[in-house]
Amino acid sequence: MKSDELYGLLRRRGFLWPTAEIYGGAQGLYDYGPLGTALKRRIEEAWTAWFVGRSEDYYRIEAADLLPEAVVRASGHLENFTDPEVACASCHSVFRADTVLEKVRPEGVDGLAPAQIAELVAERHVTCPKCGRATLGVPVPFNMMFGVDFGVTGHERAYLRPETAQSSYLAFPRMWEVGRKALPLGVAIVGRAYRNEIAPRQVLFRMRAFTQAELQIFFDPERFDVPIDAVGDEVLPVLRVPRREKGEESPEWVPVRELRSAELPDFYLFHLVHSYRFFRDALAIPKERIRLFEKSSTERAFYNRIQFDIEVHLESLGGYKELGAVHYRGDYDLSRHAAGSGQDLSVVTLDGRRIVPHVLELTFGVDRNLWAQADVHLGREEERTVWKLPPALAPVQVGVFPLLKKEHGAYARALARELQAAGIVAEYDDAGGIGKRYARMDEAGTPFCLTVDGTTLDPASAEAGTVTLRHRDSKAQERVPRAELAARIASATRLALAPV
Ligand code: GAP
Repeated sequence: MKSDELYGLLRRRGFLWPTAEIYGGAQGLYDYGPLGTALKRRIEEAWTAWFVGRSEDYYRIEAADLLPEAVVRASGHLENFTDPEVACASCHSVFRADTVLEKVRPEGVDGLAPAQIAELVAERHVTCPKCGRATLGVPVPFNMMFGVDFGVTGHERAYLRPETAQSSYLAFPRMWEVGRKALPLGVAIVGRAYRNEIAPRQVLFRMRAFTQAELQIFFDPERFDVPIDAVGDEVLPVLRVPRREKGEESPEWVPVRELRSAELPDFYLFHLVHSYRFFRDALAIPKERIRLFEKSSTERAFYNRIQFDIEVHLESLGGYKELGAVHYRGDYDLSRHAAGSGQDLSVVTLDGRRIVPHVLELTFGVDRNLWAQADVHLGREEERTVWKLPPALAPVQVGVFPLLKKEHGAYARALARELQAAGIVAEYDDAGGIGKRYARMDEAGTPFCLTVDGTTLDPASAEAGTVTLRHRDSKAQERVPRAELAARIASATRLALAPV
């Protein structure tokens, strides 16, 4: 579906809408309604189970959204967290440089100096996207953090965190103390990050307040054992720098064992596979739509030594889009915070070496992935609109309907309550014809519907006490005894976690 159509549907069904909608909205800010909130939670829970729940040394924490200035100074964000901004001298509109150059340089402007961007603008006769005049200026760096006054005197400055990662680095010494004093140690945060994007657009794709799920794995660079042989045969869709430089855009399928090298150490590859499998298996993104996009040394974020973005081809946004990444950040973060805070952030390993741990970061954008679920799994099929969400992500797991409200309503309500008590999200609905009710559930991604009818309540029937279970994807129907329903639905909506 096109972006507008998808957004229209999500808005109409109350999944999400612009913040302050009655005031005309606020660029780059969105609120989630009940279905959107539930779906987002499920994605966050799936991410947590996949990445954090599988090691006894990985923990999820919560931390403040505001960071004192000293933190973002030490982290390098005050100096480096910038995007080039281009202003038009005629109409005074301001744009991100990559937006202005979208048509002539679709791969973006990462790694280009302001002078090179200005040269491209002049050479290719790029005009202002708003007024059409050739009066675009030289790009200037624009810091994307939101700074706020902190305290009552207004002398102190704080910043809304630009990435959740920083809070995990600040937590490291405390987590070392309360944990097992051994590496690797994982610290995860699922929470808001804030960026004053120059050109917020594409709904959930470039927001000013968004949710990240990020796991920081602190490890000993001389010793990070991973079961690489267990994933050696996995074939990954990679687009590496040398092929990109030849103008290739499609990934090639390469077995992990052939990617092993000094450049791509085992610990990195193992976690790249684990992340790729999350997209393919837990989020059910067809593997043909995934691309692992290697960033070159000039394109990588300023803190990274190795970076592959996990991209998914999104029809609604017209191409591959970054939804997550695997970042090898070296000792950048703890060294910078040790220098900034004056605290010793080194630790002693079990074999007695004093080291500053390195960081492997697995980062994931929750909002972008919610959008991707709609892009990939929501569509029209014959006469219906159906969202074939992976059952483990469905906001509502089962719709419960009486065929006739008067006759079967009380039984259906009691059944819905019974399922809710068993931990299943069941929604009772008796409004309109049965076809309309199915249609509403199909659009919301509900994998199962149950209908209570005359047979259910007829003591003389051989099928008394059974209800019709309807499967969303196939529309197939079967009669199932009431006593079996909770177990059937619980097992079909559980996230399948393959062993690591
Ligand atoms: N801690 C590393 C980090 O923040 P990033 O590539 O800047 O790296 C990580 O962001 C993820 O956060 C991205 O892959 C994307 O999914 C999400 N993200 C980044 N900026 C975003 C924005 N403006 N709106 C929505 N999601 C965003």
